[in-house]
Amino acid sequence: MEPVRLRIGVIGTGYLGVTHAACMAELGHDVVAVDVDPVKVARLAAGEMPFHEPDLGPMLARHVRSGRLRFGTSFREVALNADVHFVCVGTPQQAGSDAWDTSHVEQAFRDLARHLDHSALIVGKSTVPVGTAERMAALVAEVAPAGSRVEVAWSPEFLREGQAVADTLTPDRLVFGVSSGWAEQMLRLTYQPLVSAGTAVHVTDPATSELVKAAANAFLATKISFVNGLAEICEATGADVLALADALGSDPRIGRRSLHPGLGYGGGCLPKDLRGLHARARELGVSGAVSFLEAVDDVNLRRRRRLVDLGLELLGSYRGARVCVLGASFKPGTDDIRDSPALHVASGIQRAGADVVVYDPVAGAAVRQAYRQLSVAGSLDEAVAEADLVLLLCEWDEFRRLDPLALGTAVRRRNLIDGRYALDAKRFRAAGWTYRA
Ligand code: UGA
Repeated sequence: MEPVRLRIGVIGTGYLGVTHAACMAELGHDVVAVDVDPVKVARLAAGEMPFHEPDLGPMLARHVRSGRLRFGTSFREVALNADVHFVCVGTPQQAGSDAWDTSHVEQAFRDLARHLDHSALIVGKSTVPVGTAERMAALVAEVAPAGSRVEVAWSPEFLREGQAVADTLTPDRLVFGVSSGWAEQMLRLTYQPLVSAGTAVHVTDPATSELVKAAANAFLATKISFVNGLAEICEATGADVLALADALGSDPRIGRRSLHPGLGYGGGCLPKDLRGLHARARELGVSGAVSFLEAVDDVNLRRRRRLVDLGLELLGSYRGARVCVLGASFKPGTDDIRDSPALHVASGIQRAGADVVVYDPVAGAAVRQAYRQLSVAGSLDEAVAEADLVLLLCEWDEFRRLDPLALGTAVRRRNLIDGRYALDAKRFRAAGWTYRA
């Protein structure tokens, strides 16, 4: 089947929206993306990336140049120039509550729908509490001039930061939460090159589709906390958690991925989606059925406290000590510092009286802006100089290659905590380091 060139609208130019818009242009569609932030839009319209994501920059610039990908601030223009719209705005955790804040989603549907005077499909991509699509369908029916000729569907995205392009263009699966055969057909046409290449397509209703996304992230978080809970049992007994994870993970029913122990999960998705799902279950009166989600969150935060305590065990006191934190983003491959476990630990150690210096290969500027109380080094050498304790809290490749001997001559005391099980313990111990993971 020949690829069909559709007119695609993308609402929201955050992480998800920019990736989705560029990838839709890559699939051959004409894309117009809209955001309320004119500064960000101006940068994107010039082909400039607003965040760090490997492979996305060149693709974005290429499609902006060719005219196949446009950015603007007018919802009316998007409504008039597209037939399939993807809502990609953020759903952060609400202040003072565990629930998702869906106000941006509601606003996006409202701003778009009031200009829709022809038949169109609005596809939600944001991670939302189950039941949101139904509410949005009612809202659209009320405000769209085209009335029932505008349909709402939900199709979640499973992309990981750092691998966003590959995850979008070669996904494990596509999930179409639709209410009609027409909506399914429009989504199949949108993703036609992927569907033809054999990507698994799960067609379901919008509510199930919303839940698939929240459940996927909650399951990944549960796997990570499971292995981290066992890591503490290993620490208490001298057992080896990495060997344990390898042996567990070789059972295909369990799987080795997302079973890497360490400081735990962070970022803009796993922590808030796990809490959001639990909060929604509470609203629905079934929180008892997923009470383990609270334990998953507790184990995750406990890892951060445990790491601060471990540093104290090594140093005796944090007062007057110089502590070097390597890695600030919530994981390698991104400059995203939202709910970063590394920065949580760094701030805790600083509050305990240490002089903390942070180094990250790409997130330095973001840390300087958001964590004014922390000192940020411009280079690895500057960061490790005269340190009493080095903490590896985000496993960038640059840190995996650390040479124990060279590092040993730069620091004041050879104390190392590998918060991500990323280094070779034997090499560091052989070079005179007190190494803990
Ligand atoms: C996560 C999901 O993996 C994506 O499928 C989903 O689309 C995305 O959230 C989203 O909802 O937008 P992401 O937040 O980019 O993607 O990061 P992951 O690679 O899943 O890592 C999350 C956190 O878990 C990181 O802090 C990472 O360091 C930690 N992690 C991951 C571990 O501690 N152990 C592991 O084995 C894997």
